[in-house]
Amino acid sequence: MTKQTVFITRPVPQKGLDMILNDSNVKAEIWDDDLPPPRNVLLEKVKGIDGLYCLITERIDEELLEAVGPQLKVVSQMAVGYDNIDVAACTRRGIPLGNTPGVLTEATADLAMALLLGTARQLVVAAEAVKAGRWLTWEPMGYTGPDVHGSTVGIIGLGRIGLAVARRLSGFNVRLLYHNRTPTPAADEVGATYVDLDTLLAESDFVSLHCPLIPETHHLINSDRLRQMKPTATLINTARGGVVDQNALIEALREGIIAYAGLDVTTPEPLGMDSPLLSLPNAIVLPHIGSASIASREKMAIMAAENLLAGIKGERLPNCVNPSVYGENLS
Ligand code: NAP
Ligand code: GLV
Repeated sequence: MTKQTVFITRPVPQKGLDMILNDSNVKAEIWDDDLPPPRNVLLEKVKGIDGLYCLITERIDEELLEAVGPQLKVVSQMAVGYDNIDVAACTRRGIPLGNTPGVLTEATADLAMALLLGTARQLVVAAEAVKAGRWLTWEPMGYTGPDVHGSTVGIIGLGRIGLAVARRLSGFNVRLLYHNRTPTPAADEVGATYVDLDTLLAESDFVSLHCPLIPETHHLINSDRLRQMKPTATLINTARGGVVDQNALIEALREGIIAYAGLDVTTPEPLGMDSPLLSLPNAIVLPHIGSASIASREKMAIMAAENLLAGIKGERLPNCVNPSVYGENLS
């Protein structure tokens, strides 16, 4: 029997890889490098494959799908977000797209909290000062920042991760506001109040972004919106870099339009070493590590393997982004 061929765009946690490598019907090629395959190499490698296992670092578009050929049965991404993928192009070709929702929710919420507390309490600046020998004495006014407890926190995108952040904040005695396109009953569980975006931005001491990057949310936080925020406010972004107009954010941080930013995601990724964000004392930038707990990454790798294997067998993906390929509507 002819084996199904799959291409895996980077080494991923072994349990996920083993599920694919141990399947006797599958012949897998792994791009065995720390860096993603260059675009021209990727376009060559995917020619004729039956299944693609990819990461957020790959752009999956018309050109790539065309290069793969009409035999492609599944695209499986090891991530919950899929803004790097042209979903409509997959759907037009009847190709199911898999993602990994849920298993990274808690880890990503932990990281949003780490950024929120880390910016408020000046953790990076203070730790750098200790390492550089600038800890000369206890300073009455050094390294002071806003209190998290008793503050107002605004969550944009009260979905899986937004809710998990809200649950964590329940121990901090905060007032919780949120904004989604549609109010959600889940907000009652965490005591979050639905408000419009203008109110959320004007009243929050901390604004945390948890919406997907879609055309509607591209540069949702722009210069005007930053000016609606308090000059003492903090912006936390663990969603996607494109949700924020980064040049406007740099200007806002420089000019005191807002006070701090904690960013796990930027534009581009990786951020160029010449980015002003890296020299601003009031910004923390992390290398997109929201889901980077050992257990979460393992579960993501397994879930993506399950989607891939189901797809190449012609079975329904356990987590399908575009169920319309099966004649179903999105719920
Ligand atoms: P989710 O459960 O689908 O939640 C997304 C939320 O965003 C929903 O509540 C949705 O509500 C809301 N939303 C959508 N469009 C909006 C808009 N225009 N304005 C305001 N709210 C809007 O997704 P999730 O699992 O929590 O993941 C959220 C995002 O986090 C992912 O898409 C991904 O980009 C990012 N992420 C990042 C990391 C990391 O490593 N930093 C890890 C995991 C995920 P409505 O539909 O009602 O608007
Ligand atoms: C990571 O950013 C994800 O979307 O899973």
